[in-house]
Amino acid sequence: EKGGYDWFMVKEIHEQPQAIADTLLGRIGSDGRLQLDEMRLSDGELREVDKIIVIACGTSYYAGMVAKYAIEHWTRIPCEVELASEFRYRDPILDHTTLVVTISQSGETMDTLMAIRYAREQRARVLSICNTNGSTIPRESDAVIYTHAGPEIAVASTKGFLAQVVACYLLALYFAQAKGVKYGDEIRSILDELEKIPAAVQTVLDRGEQVRKLANDLSDSRSIMFLGRHVGYPVALEGALKLKELAYLHAEGFAAGELKHGPIAVIEDGVPVFVVVPPKARDQLQEKILSNIQEVRARGARTIVLVEEGDDSVVAYADEVIRLPKVPTLLQPLVATVPLQIFACEIATQLGHDVDQPRNLAKSVTVE
Ligand code: F6R
Repeated sequence: EKGGYDWFMVKEIHEQPQAIADTLLGRIGSDGRLQLDEMRLSDGELREVDKIIVIACGTSYYAGMVAKYAIEHWTRIPCEVELASEFRYRDPILDHTTLVVTISQSGETMDTLMAIRYAREQRARVLSICNTNGSTIPRESDAVIYTHAGPEIAVASTKGFLAQVVACYLLALYFAQAKGVKYGDEIRSILDELEKIPAAVQTVLDRGEQVRKLANDLSDSRSIMFLGRHVGYPVALEGALKLKELAYLHAEGFAAGELKHGPIAVIEDGVPVFVVVPPKARDQLQEKILSNIQEVRARGARTIVLVEEGDDSVVAYADEVIRLPKVPTLLQPLVATVPLQIFACEIATQLGHDVDQPRNLAKSVTVE
């Protein structure tokens, strides 16, 4: 049942190209238009939406952070992201022109479900991105986009996350299409790029040995940091969460720009720092992250830099370079997350932990 792998986690990490392909399957028409069958909201209803609030927990929340960048860029509709457990308690402002988007792999997370009930009481429309057919969350939502990652057995989410990120892009692009935004060409070219992502993820998986060796070298670390900017920031948070969950190691993800506002104080000799470098296309972001890498290195950090192929700008400041396939900036989380999953999983197995059933965690969190 583990398909020849030692752990469900390892199997699910390797199923990611398929999870992405299946989530895209049948949704991009031959005319380049998106079709989302379970959308159930008409183009007219979508055009009424003037604010989007994305709500989720844990890893799904990080998918929501990626969604915010994509939604605001492609649709120009203001978008907020909120932890489900915080949302209801802050007296949020919403009405019938607000679209609440929830993201849940299991479809049973109580915090998320309670946020949905609250949002609907306030007359907001609710669209859910979910991996589990017929679960409670899609049943209580006005519309659904299913991710087709297949069952996720390991407690910590991997393929579920990448499929969620893909569904978020589809949602953003669908909205842009419904609004008839002027980026028609950009939408088509992004859809083409999305269809190439399964092969790109496969390339990252094929290079897994480098990351596993690195995990071997770093398995006695006491603490590991992750830095990113823009959509690399949620990737950094996800890398840190996987390491906590699987390896029980202290790990933290930061927005790289926040370093000098505090976190840099914890950098000391030998601390491993992973840095997700945005694609070269984003010059300004790159320049900034380059100085962040120099800052931590000057304080003795061991820098592990994830950077696209052909970009040598940061190589001189890296103790280790992990190459990522070239993809558009907004899509980079789909390739950049994978080495961090492999790393966390490998450190955890080297430390002798059960990566499918980490201590203290449950697959569906059905209590608030
Ligand atoms: C992390 C993880 C959790 C879930 C969170 C939300 O690896 O598995 O953080 O992402 O509990 O669960 P769902 O997506 O089922 O609502």
